[in-house]
Amino acid sequence: MDLGICDRVALVTGASEGLGFAVARALAEEGAKLAIAARRTETLEAAARDLRERTGAPVLAVPCDVSRLEDIPQLVARAAEHFGDRLDILVCNAGGPPFGRPLDLNDEQWQQGFELTLRSVVALCRAVVPHMRRRRWGRIVAITSTSAREPIDGLTLSNALRPAVHGYLKSLSRDVGADNILVNTVCPGSYLTQRHRDLLPRWAADQGMTPEDLLRQREAAVPLRRFGEPIELGRVVAFLCSEPASYVSGVSLPVDGGLCRGLL
Ligand SMILES: NC(=O)c1ccc[n+]([C@@H]2O[C@H](COP(=O)([O-])OP(=O)(O)OC[C@H]3O[C@@H](n4cnc5c(N)ncnc54)[C@H](OP(=O)(O)O)[C@@H]3O)[C@@H](O)[C@H]2O)c1
Repeated sequence: MDLGICDRVALVTGASEGLGFAVARALAEEGAKLAIAARRTETLEAAARDLRERTGAPVLAVPCDVSRLEDIPQLVARAAEHFGDRLDILVCNAGGPPFGRPLDLNDEQWQQGFELTLRSVVALCRAVVPHMRRRRWGRIVAITSTSAREPIDGLTLSNALRPAVHGYLKSLSRDVGADNILVNTVCPGSYLTQRHRDLLPRWAADQGMTPEDLLRQREAAVPLRRFGEPIELGRVVAFLCSEPASYVSGVSLPVDGGLCRGLL
């Protein structure tokens, strides 16, 4: 299927590694022009080189910490200016908030989690929508987590803040639909990225297990009996950013191998 996004300009944040990188790759494979952002410049530049070599897509790397809200207008302006004053696609992604049980997190951790997980999405949308409105075409997708649907033990910040992201984006989808801007969320299940590798020992210690046993247990709990490959999530996001997805908005889509049990 031709996704119809050749030459569309996309900004993907948190895109130097893991799921964000896979989304950038999937969009680049469809011919999109890319601006990618993350905090560490070296890793980001390496990701940009990798994307250019794999796909031939033009890729602009802009170092940015999306939890520094004051830096977001500049990030969006640089991305749009670089590609002829246009921005058609935004994929909001970043690192997940840290492990922490409900009574153990301090105020500073709550504030940081709030800025990273919710406020960054609000600031990014606020900055990109005027570009999309001007051309009456836009796609916004946020990568959240199955924690928006079912709490994950120990990920309190994610359990509390991801539903707020969904509430915000569902509200936005209603306000910008008339401008032909589609807004959706994707909830990853389990993918063995750096974040997941970092979290496994914490989860395992919390449950009195070894990381290896916990990994096996978690794989067995997925109906497909395996973790996802990041590119499997990347291609779903690329579809939501596509022309054929033109009547899909306000949706929250688990990409989790069937892990979530909820019917809706
Ligand atoms: N992997 C999973 O199984 C899974 C499951 C459910 C939900 N998720 C969620 O999906 C998102 C991506 O997860 P992942 O597993 O791909 O994580 P990852 O492997 O840790 O990659 C995170 C990416 O985001 C960048 N990043 C982190 N903090 C950032 C910030 N403040 N500003 C800009 N960029 C930032 C990182 O680069 P820098 O460090 O250089 O900034 C990196 O490129 C997270 O929110 C995670 O909670 C993941």
